[in-house]
Amino acid sequence: MELHELPTPSFVVDLAVLERNIAFMKSRARALGVNLRPHTKTHKTREIALRQVDATRSITVSTLAEAEFFLEAGIRDIIYAVPIHPGRLDRVSRLISAGADLKILVDHPSVLNMLELKAAEKRTAFKIMLKIDSGYGRAGLPPGSDTLYDMALRIHRSGNLGLAGVLTHAGHSYQCTDASGIRAVAEEERLSVVRSAERLRMAGVPCPMVSVGSSPTAVHAENLAGVTEMRPGCYAFFDKFQSDIGTCSPDDCAVSVLAGIIGIYPERNRILVDAGALALSKDPGAVHLQQEKTYGTVKGRPDLYVASISQEHGQITSSRPLDFNAFRIGGKVSIIPNHCCLAAALFPEYQVVEGGLVKETWKPVRGW
Ligand SMILES: Cc1ncc(COP(=O)(O)O)c(C=O)c1O
Repeated sequence: MELHELPTPSFVVDLAVLERNIAFMKSRARALGVNLRPHTKTHKTREIALRQVDATRSITVSTLAEAEFFLEAGIRDIIYAVPIHPGRLDRVSRLISAGADLKILVDHPSVLNMLELKAAEKRTAFKIMLKIDSGYGRAGLPPGSDTLYDMALRIHRSGNLGLAGVLTHAGHSYQCTDASGIRAVAEEERLSVVRSAERLRMAGVPCPMVSVGSSPTAVHAENLAGVTEMRPGCYAFFDKFQSDIGTCSPDDCAVSVLAGIIGIYPERNRILVDAGALALSKDPGAVHLQQEKTYGTVKGRPDLYVASISQEHGQITSSRPLDFNAFRIGGKVSIIPNHCCLAAALFPEYQVVEGGLVKETWKPVRGW
């Protein structure tokens, strides 16, 4: 089937660009001397995860559904990179019994009590990554803090808990405006975990893993001395947000949403398409860089953008008068979404395209 024959809206993956992005990040990790532990939340598919991992076969997940799905695909070394809710510990124990080398995220001392009780009840042991806040302000302990030190010591002395390492995510890299700003955040991200690990090691607490990761910092970091691994996710697809802040070029976006034209309004300089918030998401993108609100741009035509969005409708316009001879009701356009992870998550399957032809259909895991 040809791309333009697909029903709309469809989520389309350009295989050649995807594979180029995957190869690029492998070479970045090699050049920086760290293990690559891709975050699979971006795509949640076996086909992409198996292309991303190398001999270490290590991944990051954001749901236990992903952990179960990828364990079944043969990937055992998994970090569940969202602070653990104690209600999930039975499921975590089942994953460990099924063979997962699962590491969970903790950033509060009260969770350690619950982990010890559950580990004793289940006759298991939990491996813990202590979460550090490198400046994003979403979750995590202050780098090198006393609480971090006390928690690490307690884990180290516990019979059924083990300290796997320290981890941070520089989500604030998304607020940068260019590569030099991202480089500075990457260094902040690195220092936050390297210094935390040093404090623990000086106190005799082993801290084997030192984990950083966001796509912007993975692309622009100059030096990851002291870091053992990085966990970018978005880079497999890339999107408009990443190209706006300088993580990639627009040509590196491997995904698009194929949308059908359902209305033409010369008097308002607008075209209506059948891709709304349930196909593109309502992520506003890099608002700190935009003059106009944008929910995506037309592939190959960055002057055409989605200006307004409702559940099943998207309104495309331009700052210049549109050439209405070029568009007709029934036609189709490809839209690069602001945020690839959120747009992908709205589709039950992805259409994989090579040379203009749909070659495969990939099914992601869904739910939590
Ligand atoms: C904990 C954690 N690690 C890694 C990543 C991957 O970052 P990115 O989406 O910029 O590739 C995320 C993304 O949200 C994350 O939350």
